[in-house]
Amino acid sequence: MPPSTPTDTPPENRSTAMPAARARGLSKTYGRGETAVHALREVDLEIPAGRFTAVMGASGSGKSTLMHCLAGLDRPTAGEVTVAGTTLTGLDDDRLTRFRRDRLGFVFQAFNLLPMLTAGQNILLPLELAGRRIDPAARSRAAEIAEILGIERRLGHRPAELSGGQQQRVAIARALITEPDLIFADEPTGNLDSGSSAEVLAHLRSTVRELGRTVVMVTHEDSAAAYADHVVLMSDGRVAAGVGV
Ligand SMILES: Nc1ncnc2c1ncn2[C@@H]1O[C@H](COP(=O)(O)OP(=O)(O)OP(=O)(O)O)[C@@H](O)[C@H]1O
Ligand SMILES: [Mg+2]
Repeated sequence: MPPSTPTDTPPENRSTAMPAARARGLSKTYGRGETAVHALREVDLEIPAGRFTAVMGASGSGKSTLMHCLAGLDRPTAGEVTVAGTTLTGLDDDRLTRFRRDRLGFVFQAFNLLPMLTAGQNILLPLELAGRRIDPAARSRAAEIAEILGIERRLGHRPAELSGGQQQRVAIARALITEPDLIFADEPTGNLDSGSSAEVLAHLRSTVRELGRTVVMVTHEDSAAAYADHVVLMSDGRVAAGVGV
């Protein structure tokens, strides 16, 4: 996929000056001295709003570290991360936790659903954790998301009664329920067969196209990246190509 150019931007997004996320001089070093690992080296990057961005690169190139720093799951050694106008690097732990809970969604390789809850209860869980009321509006939003993801008939089932692809779609619905500005997915199809992968990727793309969400997905697979609008290619802790600025 070619690097992004201004002409890639669809007309409806050209006026959106603010990126969904921005990194400036982002560095992450694990350990010190001779054994230090430079997982990120002064990365400058903008994640465009309302688009589907794939992060690719060799194993160990820094993809997960980049995603964790952008999502406030990990703190960088140096540099700055701004998400939806908020500078994460300036927030204390409590505020950062609240920001993540209220503004971001996560989808992991292992679906991380709670086994004793039904699919429907799993989807509503982030609202409960945030102390928000499960009112009729929330229920109808959950129903709408479930329909877009094609799991509306499975909401009464527990995760063990669902296929891998269906479980991952429940996890995506759960990430969407709080209407996050940005959804991060680290290898969301890593545990799926190719049929289920295609299904999940098509649905992730539809959350971008139909719901106007911004998705950042880490993937090893060219076939997965093909669903994205942009590819950021990582190499040895740097952005080698893509939407880097
Ligand atoms: N907690 C940690 N402590 C020490 N080194 C770490 C830690 N986490 C990651 N690293 C190192 O940082 C580098 C980047 O790791 P990262 O997990 O970001 O790679 P990745 O591109 O996601 O790889 P993969 O495709 O295998 O998931 C690697 O060399 C890794 O060994
Ligand atoms: Mg990784």
